[in-house]
Amino acid sequence: MNYDERLQNVTVLGAAGKMGSGILLLTAVEMADLSLKPENKGKTFCLNAMDVSHEGLAGLMKYLKDQVRKVAEKKTVLLRKLYEDRADLIENEDIINEYVFDVMNVVRPVTTIESAYDSHLIFEAIIENLDLKNKILSQIYTNNPHKPWFFTNTSSIPINILDEGAGLEGNILGFHFYNPPAVQRLVELITTVKNSIEIVDFAKAYAKKLRKVIVPSNDKAGFIGNGHFMRDALHSIREVEMLTTDMSFAEAVYMINKVSQDFLVRPMGIFQLIDYVGVDVVKFIMQVMNPHLPDEDLHSDLLDKLFDMGVKGGQKSDGSQKDGILKYERGRPVAVFNPETKEYDAISDFQEKCDEKLGALPAAWKPWKVVNFSRGAKDGILAGYFGELSNMSTLGAELSKKYNTRSIEIGKYLVSSGVANNNEDVNTVMLTGFYHAYGPINEYLK
Ligand SMILES: NC(=O)c1ccc[n+]([C@@H]2O[C@H](COP(=O)([O-])OP(=O)(O)OC[C@H]3O[C@@H](n4cnc5c(N)ncnc54)[C@H](O)[C@@H]3O)[C@@H](O)[C@H]2O)c1
Repeated sequence: MNYDERLQNVTVLGAAGKMGSGILLLTAVEMADLSLKPENKGKTFCLNAMDVSHEGLAGLMKYLKDQVRKVAEKKTVLLRKLYEDRADLIENEDIINEYVFDVMNVVRPVTTIESAYDSHLIFEAIIENLDLKNKILSQIYTNNPHKPWFFTNTSSIPINILDEGAGLEGNILGFHFYNPPAVQRLVELITTVKNSIEIVDFAKAYAKKLRKVIVPSNDKAGFIGNGHFMRDALHSIREVEMLTTDMSFAEAVYMINKVSQDFLVRPMGIFQLIDYVGVDVVKFIMQVMNPHLPDEDLHSDLLDKLFDMGVKGGQKSDGSQKDGILKYERGRPVAVFNPETKEYDAISDFQEKCDEKLGALPAAWKPWKVVNFSRGAKDGILAGYFGELSNMSTLGAELSKKYNTRSIEIGKYLVSSGVANNNEDVNTVMLTGFYHAYGPINEYLK
């Protein structure tokens, strides 16, 4: 079966979710483009958008239509070529409308699993629950006569566990998109010893067509991205716990968030990132990873406590940030959740005091946005900045040196424990998947 044939009948499981909707968009566009090739004229391309949520699917179709229009508007030159035999399509608008129609025509919103029984390729993006994933994958594999390939988006479950649990005979690999899949360029590719050359080659070819950057990760719980992020998050929580011996929880969270964002020149503070991913999701990912890590305890009582109090974060359907550990106004943190009063404490009430405690940023400091997009000059800017920071002994400088040392340690551990093949893969994941301006395995701090 060649590339085009494999993509003639595809299912996305969990299509209405955060990840599923993006995977659906990318795949719908790729399948429609294939269907428009002259050699595929007359062939049917069918993409099942499968989800248990009727409401989610209704919203999904609107989202998809809007997004496909944006895709079409960006490639009118290419579309003119694809539709060159269509004399009736004259204006750009005609071509865009036709393309939106053709892409939407490929997609079938469905709520029943049986629709996947005829697919050759299945993207799995349902909630992070091993038993549910096993049950669904196994049911499809048993009833689908084509021995389909499964590309799972699991964030933390080792692929061999899913393979064994659902009895998939090596027909599954980890194709770990980052959020949002349509925008983020990184895909972590997790293969197992049971995979055939064909499934791996197809995964690489598909990623290339989507213009994704592939980083191979070995089949160890959490892979590279969450392997770093979860441990980084636990470091920040431990630091907060230490600081709360002489300040409030809200002040400590504010300070570590500032250290991890401003002092370390990252795109967002660690507590904002936890909220972005979701306090609940982070907690679940740790829970899934933990049993596979006998030498570590990847767990946080604080996250459990916050989760029990209903502090969840995550995003609203329009993509804006929900309140979590931090409260947001126009996307910016304005308050910190107080577990004692169960209310949010305004940052403006203690910001000045905390900033004074941390001390000033080095004079060479520039915001992440400026540093990250300085292209050729980036390395020099970072070397100058961290050189200055290394010689400072304010609380902010000490906390950030400790933070960076731990981040380097985590990065190196991911290589030594066989999750990543080399330092560069760890750094690429953090640079492309988390938009860090520099890799965790760095030598900036002396
Ligand atoms: N959110 C992220 O940042 C992120 C990043 C990378 C990978 N992932 C992984 O992607 C997967 C999905 O995560 P998400 O954040 O998109 O979750 P989500 O909660 O946004 O979406 C999950 C979807 O699955 C649907 N669903 C639940 N049970 C189902 C069933 N039995 N059959 C079909 N659909 C069902 C839900 O209705 C929902 O639409 C998880 O494995 C997660 O670990 C998430």
